[in-house]
Amino acid sequence: MSCVSLVDVPVPYRVVARHVETADVVTLRVQPVVGDLPGFRPAQFSMIGVMGVGEVPISISSACDDRTAHGYTLRRAGAVTNALWDRRIGDVVTVRGPFGRPWELQRAEGRHAVFVAGGIGIAPLRAAIEELSSNTTAAPRRLSVLVGAATPSDHLYEPWLVDLSERGVEVLRTVDRTDESWSHAIGFVTELIAPVVAEWTGAVDVSAYVCGPDPMMAATIDTLGRCRVAADDIEVTLERNMQCANGWCGHCQLGPLLVCRDGPVATASELGDVFERSEL
Ligand SMILES: Cc1cc2nc3c(=O)[nH]c(=O)nc-3n(C[C@H](O)[C@H](O)[C@H](O)COP(=O)(O)OP(=O)(O)OC[C@H]3O[C@@H](n4cnc5c(N)ncnc54)[C@H](O)[C@@H]3O)c2cc1C
Ligand code: FES
Repeated sequence: MSCVSLVDVPVPYRVVARHVETADVVTLRVQPVVGDLPGFRPAQFSMIGVMGVGEVPISISSACDDRTAHGYTLRRAGAVTNALWDRRIGDVVTVRGPFGRPWELQRAEGRHAVFVAGGIGIAPLRAAIEELSSNTTAAPRRLSVLVGAATPSDHLYEPWLVDLSERGVEVLRTVDRTDESWSHAIGFVTELIAPVVAEWTGAVDVSAYVCGPDPMMAATIDTLGRCRVAADDIEVTLERNMQCANGWCGHCQLGPLLVCRDGPVATASELGDVFERSEL
């Protein structure tokens, strides 16, 4: 009897749309060449690749109720992401998945849901923000989206962020460095947290969802903790190099966790001091 399941087999998908987001970030929308688009939950990822080059984990950035195609927003980093960047509409890529533990969005019911994104970290948060802003999974009492990027031109999804604001979501943007044309905050995204969370009298009522580079996530956990948000109420999504995505090869080990099997989502209490013990 074979132990290989369907998600272990790379499936051909066709690129049906391609949107250049920034100088080094693109969103590809892909559909299976044959068969139906699988469902997924926010923060789940697929191993997406190009035949003859390889495959890498990338989060699904489209909304869960978008049944026409899956979106993948990816930054050019090396061989595989460069090959994916080069794909055009009509080209075929391979997809395995979706994999992984999703955000626990039910925790946000009746509470203040705070999303904190650093750079391309907004991609794995996007489907979750869509769900909570449309009250399809849970109805938070208040919804805040805090987004940081290195410069104004590194900010992603501006039309969507504007649409969210118009739908009543609190959206705050910041950059590390800029010029006079920038009308939002300047500084690290962690600096946006205390004013938004402290203003909410009961920090015990906060559910936080965080994605960005490891040092940004470590600083965000620390800041939320100082705002009295419980470690169980802070979820982050982790990134490590992957090969099998099935808990077999050990490539994605982070402390006691295998990110592909136990994550990518983990609570701050599950992480403990893992960030301090690993090289950030
Ligand atoms: C669960 C998960 C979800 C992800 N979602 C996204 C996403 O939505 N969009 C996106 O752009 N990227 C995402 N990534 C990261 C992406 O998988 C890597 O950028 C990719 O594997 C790089 O592969 P490559 O062959 O292009 O470059 P490589 O040649 O493999 O790497 C280029 C450089 O990036 C570094 N690197 C490779 N992988 C990682 C990693 N996982 N974390 C940090 N540094 C790394 C390498 O050390 C090297 O310096 C995700 C990773 C995980 C684990
Ligand atoms: S990628 Fe192989 S164990 Fe996680």
